[in-house]
Amino acid sequence: MKRITVIGTGYVGLVSGAGMSDFGNDVSCVDVDKQKIDLLIKGKIPIYEQGLEKLVYRNTKSKRLHFSHDISDAIKSAEVIFIAVGTPENETGNADISAILDVAQLIGQTINNYKVICTKSTVPVGTGKQIIDIINKYNTNNIEYDYCSNPEFLREGKAVSDFQRPDRIVLGVTSKKSYEYMKDVYRPLYINKTPIIHTTVETAEMIKYAANAFLALKISYINEVANLCDEIGADINIVSEALGSDGRISSKFLHPGPGFGGSCFPKDTKALVHTAKKYNLEMHTVNAAIKTNYLQPKRMLDKLEKLLEGDLSSKLIGILGLSFKQETDDVRESPAIKVIRGLQKKEAMIRAYDPVANNSMKKIFPDIKYRLSWQSAVKDCDAVVIMTEWNEFRGMDLIKLKKLMHSPVILDTRNILNITELKELGFKFDNVGRK
Ligand code: UGA
Repeated sequence: MKRITVIGTGYVGLVSGAGMSDFGNDVSCVDVDKQKIDLLIKGKIPIYEQGLEKLVYRNTKSKRLHFSHDISDAIKSAEVIFIAVGTPENETGNADISAILDVAQLIGQTINNYKVICTKSTVPVGTGKQIIDIINKYNTNNIEYDYCSNPEFLREGKAVSDFQRPDRIVLGVTSKKSYEYMKDVYRPLYINKTPIIHTTVETAEMIKYAANAFLALKISYINEVANLCDEIGADINIVSEALGSDGRISSKFLHPGPGFGGSCFPKDTKALVHTAKKYNLEMHTVNAAIKTNYLQPKRMLDKLEKLLEGDLSSKLIGILGLSFKQETDDVRESPAIKVIRGLQKKEAMIRAYDPVANNSMKKIFPDIKYRLSWQSAVKDCDAVVIMTEWNEFRGMDLIKLKKLMHSPVILDTRNILNITELKELGFKFDNVGRK
């Protein structure tokens, strides 16, 4: 078991830090955001993530997990340092790695004995080399260290269970010694025979982007097939099921919808295209997935306009679901943002409700009306649009829904409602590929 410091307490850093302490390591989490650390010291979790509060509580109580403001001290005392700071998209479509490089400089200036310095943030292929160069520049006493790229495959909403039961661990390392250190960090998983992919830094960096882009491709592909199903009267649910039963395809990530969102797929697909361009390569398939995803929310707006016979102005539209997917309060790149913007352009009136993401969306759209229940959001609406597949919406009482609305018009962009029931109740409705 190792003494670990995690720099950055966002989704990846916090879940990984708590998860690694649960494996028996001694973990300190640090962040430049003082307020966040203060909250964590008080036992408050700044993000909505199933199971995280319990995990943090259990491990802080047993003194394996600590939060601190003192980054330099945390660097000095660690055997393994995880870099888990943000890499947002910059204006050129590439990942902004400035926060990573700042951390690398600080590590170079502070390093006092052998450590493994490990990047968990999603960074473009080749960033590992830049990090090493910066550490070397500031590590004037030539203190020995190794570098590791250990990408994360956590899904928001399922991050804790994904961390505890991963499909694989990828370790891109610069020496045998650092591989042994990292194996020790993940000891319980190693003992459980979780596949560990021991490789180079560049290959590990590539694996992360290749995985995310492939999943994004799958989603855009199924969305295009669903759009075609709309036109020819086929049922995408049955098509997806049949595709998924082929072991070569697998049933995962074949759910059509309003397009993929979140902090990863939109950014990572663009960054991969950007990296390829540097080497004079075009990622045609990834570009196509990006384009399809750009168009998908627009298609949802067109569907709604059709349902309302071409007129959205002054119509009251209830938006159910704001987060980019269920089980998270994250609205980054959420398709709901694009739909709300489109509705605003058409001068529709908007009422919105999300079980946990109202506050996150208020930061983007402070002026729309938010409600605290679906019942209150749909009251007197001319149409309702389901944007996120929360279980609460799957289980809505459709008789009650119809009674509350001004006119029973519904666009189900996640295909979660029962078509037969909608038909029987006299709803005018549309979905994605299930006409
Ligand atoms: C994604 C990956 O799934 C993780 O493995 C990865 O670690 C993470 O990015 C990351 O790079 O940090 P996440 O963005 O949390 O995780 O969410 P996903 O569950 O992958 O969903 C992404 C988007 O695709 C959502 O908008 C979701 O609604 C959409 N989606 C997903 C579909 O439209 N259809 C599907 O079948 C699956």
